[in-house]
Amino acid sequence: MNNLFLYWLDTMFIAGIGVSISVLDCDSTSYLFLVSVRRVSPRFSIPPSNHEVMPGGSVNLTCVAVGSPMPYVKWIVGTQELTKEDDMPMGRNVLELVNITQSANYTCEAMSSLGIIQATAQITVKALPKPPATLIVTETTATSVTLTWDSGNADPISYYVIQYKSKTWEGTFQEVDGVATTRYSIGGLSPFSEYEFRVIAVNNIGRGPPSELVEARTGEQAPSSPPLKVQARMLSASTMLVQWEQPEEPNGQIRGYRVYFTTNPHLPLNMWQKHNTDDSHLTTVGSLITGTTYSIRALAFTSVGDGPPSDVIQLKTQQGVPSQPVDFQAEAESDTRIMLTWLPASQERITKYELVYWEEDDKNQHKKTFDPTSSYAVEGLKPDTVYKFQLGARSELGLGVYTPVLEARTAQSTHVLME
Ligand SMILES: *[C@@H]1O[C@H](CO)[C@@H](O)[C@H](O)[C@H]1NC(C)=O
Ligand SMILES: *[C@@H]1O[C@H](CO)[C@@H](O)[C@H](O)[C@H]1NC(C)=O
Ligand SMILES: *[C@@H]1O[C@H](CO)[C@@H](O)[C@H](O)[C@H]1NC(C)=O
Repeated sequence: MNNLFLYWLDTMFIAGIGVSISVLDCDSTSYLFLVSVRRVSPRFSIPPSNHEVMPGGSVNLTCVAVGSPMPYVKWIVGTQELTKEDDMPMGRNVLELVNITQSANYTCEAMSSLGIIQATAQITVKALPKPPATLIVTETTATSVTLTWDSGNADPISYYVIQYKSKTWEGTFQEVDGVATTRYSIGGLSPFSEYEFRVIAVNNIGRGPPSELVEARTGEQAPSSPPLKVQARMLSASTMLVQWEQPEEPNGQIRGYRVYFTTNPHLPLNMWQKHNTDDSHLTTVGSLITGTTYSIRALAFTSVGDGPPSDVIQLKTQQGVPSQPVDFQAEAESDTRIMLTWLPASQERITKYELVYWEEDDKNQHKKTFDPTSSYAVEGLKPDTVYKFQLGARSELGLGVYTPVLEARTAQSTHVLME
């Protein structure tokens, strides 16, 4: 082929002018060509494609247009030209976008003498969801709170996370994850307690900021534990003073306490005598039969109902005789030693304590007498053995009622057998 012809083809190619060459005839030494110049309007062979990017992300937008003559290709965003007029490539133009912070539509424009065409790519910056709106409490029970809210987002939300915590406890939020609806009941709450709640929307980028906090108080329930440290002592030969402390789980506002007493503790509780009080923590009960042993229990009630009664305490209606020791507890300190503790008695002229104890399978009782104190270590016991204890207090005027039987097991032997 003739060099001049090749040079002409090359020039046409560089100018982007389509040239078609048809071979009309040939033999072993020469060719006969028909060379024609085609004119083709621009079209996109690779139009720019839409992208979703993370905030601060980058993307390369590729736009390729063909035609004859070859079109120039430039990028435009809004009314702003992104490709310099005097540096406009032909055919292919790659727009490098870095640190993208805003969604925008980028338009690729291809132009030749035969026309101008455009194609637009949407660049969407994916963002964390906004906080859910209008969070409200729609229902409360003693142990649950129902919340409803609005998405607060135009784009779809994957799910919500509910966070809640008790207002009276410093601490971190508890979470309910993966909530697919905009209404949810949180159960397992404590009665008569204030909580705060907030909701977080989650999409495929992550968690958005939390909604505003809402507060709710759960409803009341009957107390679920008895009054604490119930104690009784005689004020006269026929009047006793009964005292106690508020239950650990009042579950509401305590409206009052009920003291039950009887000389026959085998009767069902509803057949014992009753004495109601307001929400004070002590009461006197008169007209008792002198010289007998009374059994006493107390319970607390809210507007919803009665809590469980305390364990039985016993009292001898004999003036000057100490009452039953209160809050008697045992703890194994080793394989041979058990520590006993009780509340120190007030306003009683105790001269001695009397302790009886025995092994579970051995009725042989041991007795110890010691000066007033509020703890006593029993030593020289057998390892891994259950012991039973009863404690009574004595004054000049006589011995009071023993505590109910208390059990404790010594630790397993720590001695290692040596060969
Ligand atoms: C875009 O192209 C440039 C140059 O080829 C390259 O360095 C960069 O990594 C590309 N960016 C992306 C997001 O593909
Ligand atoms: C990205 O753009 C933001 C806002 O224009 C700027 O504060 C930040 O420094 C940029 N980050 C980088 C890596 O260029
Ligand atoms: C891009 O164009 C689409 C379709 O016309 C439009 O819905 C969208 O709002 C535009 N986006 C921006 C950021 O202008």
